[in-house]
Amino acid sequence: MKILVSDKLAHEGVELLKNAGHEVVEAWDEPKEDLPNIIGDCDAIVVRSATKVRGELLDAGKNLKVIGRAGIGLDNVDLETAKARGIVVRNTPTATTQTVAELTMGLMLCTVRDIVRGTTGLREGKWEKKQLKGYELYKKTLGVIGAGRIGLAVADRARGFGMEILCYDPYTKPEGYNNVDLETLLKQSDFLTLHLPLTPETKHMISDAQFAIMKEGVRIVDAARGGVIDEEALYKAMTSNKVASCALDVFETEPPGDNKLLTLPNLICTPHIGAQTFEGQLRAGIMVAEAVNEELAKL
Ligand code: MLT
Repeated sequence: MKILVSDKLAHEGVELLKNAGHEVVEAWDEPKEDLPNIIGDCDAIVVRSATKVRGELLDAGKNLKVIGRAGIGLDNVDLETAKARGIVVRNTPTATTQTVAELTMGLMLCTVRDIVRGTTGLREGKWEKKQLKGYELYKKTLGVIGAGRIGLAVADRARGFGMEILCYDPYTKPEGYNNVDLETLLKQSDFLTLHLPLTPETKHMISDAQFAIMKEGVRIVDAARGGVIDEEALYKAMTSNKVASCALDVFETEPPGDNKLLTLPNLICTPHIGAQTFEGQLRAGIMVAEAVNEELAKL
């Protein structure tokens, strides 16, 4: 079978596809707009988040039977059209749990400790010890919105920091955690962390009304998906000091270009690197290749 790999995948994953006897079209360096001309008679496509498997690309993939997503979020795949055409979609939901949870903790620490400003200040020859007084995570309440694998991995790590944990998830009430409704969580949390996919249901679920009931000086981390937080509402909340600081790994539009949030001194940001560790990408590459091989073997 022929497999188009259109985003950079761990070498070990590509080898697994080849070792199963498949022809692999390595197209991760090709411009994304050329992919409809490359997909041709491919039986499968393997992507990360950069390739959008929808519209022209999906239409051009007339022979597609399997879409493999090395990662968790499926917002870059038109699931409805894939289902209607009988194309199987497989992702790697467990590959990067620790990876994302660890970045979330790093970002959370950066919302209260001036690691970034300390670094840039020292590089500029400044010794800003007096100015860089922060806060502890210890004894603060963390509201975890989305209590799936990553949300709970964050909750467990945050417990290690001595934080009190509240969880909200409309689909699951994990045992051993304090599960509350969203309103209670928003009203009681000192820190919020989001671990939800972007779906029509979650788009802008954190907007003006939700910011209004949060504690003054709340701190927020989003290493899940841009668009779950309404960026316009976030900007207002950050400039009115409702939100003391916020760390974003994800944006409504990526790269964010001249997004005005980037001008705010109380914003910490990273370029969607939540899943970006050597270990995480090795697991994702291997898992997606195994899943795609398994599906192709059924044909
Ligand atoms: C994910 O959904 O797993 C990540 O956002 C993946 C990625 O960076 O490709």
